[in-house]
Order: sequence, then C-alpha cells, then structure tokens
Amino acid sequence: MPVVFFVTSNQHKFQEVNTIFTQHTSIQLKLIQKSIIEIQSFDLEEIAFFSLEKCTQDFHERPIFVEDSGLFIDQLNGFPGPFSAYIFKTIGLKGILTLMQHVNNREAFFQSSIALKIDDCIEIFTERVKGKISRNISESGWGYDPIFIPECDGIHSFGDLGPKKNSISHRYLATLKLIRFLEDHLFEMN
Ligand code: IMP
Repeated sequence: MPVVFFVTSNQHKFQEVNTIFTQHTSIQLKLIQKSIIEIQSFDLEEIAFFSLEKCTQDFHERPIFVEDSGLFIDQLNGFPGPFSAYIFKTIGLKGILTLMQHVNNREAFFQSSIALKIDDCIEIFTERVKGKISRNISESGWGYDPIFIPECDGIHSFGDLGPKKNSISHRYLATLKLIRFLEDHLFEMN
C-alpha cells in the first residue's frame, strides 16, 4: 500500500489526520515527529509552503506534507491567525475571551492549509470552517477547540463535539482534498 509522510510535532493534529486517513483511504500515514521552523507571514499557505521546503531539505521521504492552521476572529481583524500557537501559549483562551468581552460580533473561522511535495511538485490544499467564539470555555478539546462553535452545529464547541469534530473541521476538509489528490496520483501510477 502507498505511504505518505506527515511532518509535525503536534500529536493532536497527527491523531486527527490519521483518523481521517484510516476512515477514508487505504493510503498509510507515517509520522515524522519534528518541530518545524515557520516563516513570519499573514498567509497560512505561504507558511506551509516554506515549512515544506525546509522539511524536504532534511527529509527525503516522498510524498511528504505539513499542515499549518489557525483561528481567525473577524472583529479582531483576523487575530490570532498565523500567530495562533504563540497566542495560545501566552494569553491563552482566557486572554482571547477577555479581548472579546464587549464584542457582539463573534464570528471567526479556522483555516487548515496543507502543503504536499510529490515528485518535484508542491500542491497546496486549503479549507476553512466558519463559526463563533463562545462566551465560556468548555471543558474538552485542545487548542482553541473549547471556545470555537462551528456554524453547522451552532451550540456545541469543537471540544464538546468530541470525535464528531473530525467529520466537519477545517482539517477534515483539507485532509479529504489531500486524500483525493493522493489517490488520483498514487493509484494512477501503479
Ligand atoms: P501551527 O499550525 O502549528 O502553527 O499551530 C496552529 C495553532 O492553532 C495550534 O497550536 C492551535 O493552538 C491552533 N489550532 C489549529 N487547529 C486547531 C484545531 O483544530 N483545534 C484547536 N486549535 C487549533
């Protein structure tokens, strides 16, 4: 069976992507556990592209991909966006809710951008999921999951949705695009 390599140090991302692969394709996912040095940019696709370029200098396995993601809050002009990991570690969920204390428009979206190197080409797959920032922090979930209520549910946070998150999330949609592309490419070659 064909194999594809995912470079990440984030276990949550790997678990989510691995579950999607298991449910939707016979292509096997292999983890390369490594922190990736990211460029500074407002554009997640650009960050993913350059992260992949760096990874492919260090790792020669193919096909290989990275994923960059973030939460963009409308009323904060897209903040924390590409700085999501840093902001989570510094002001955290409480800090975001404090910034949003007097904000009525709570619309936001999550974006996932995957950069794949196959042969000598780089392909980018991006998807977004719209939702709202809650007023409370729910108990379950990682990262911003406890404060993001996806539009398609409207009540529960990603955290509260448990495994169901993995059939509606930005990462799910971007990973499905990746899987479709890989299947077309890898099975066509065999
Ligand atoms: P990066 O993609 O490694 O730059 O990290 C993006 C950051 O955005 C993560 O560390 C999380 O804080 C946040 N994030 C991205 N996707 C999700 C998600 O699906 N749930 C919760 N937080 C997320």
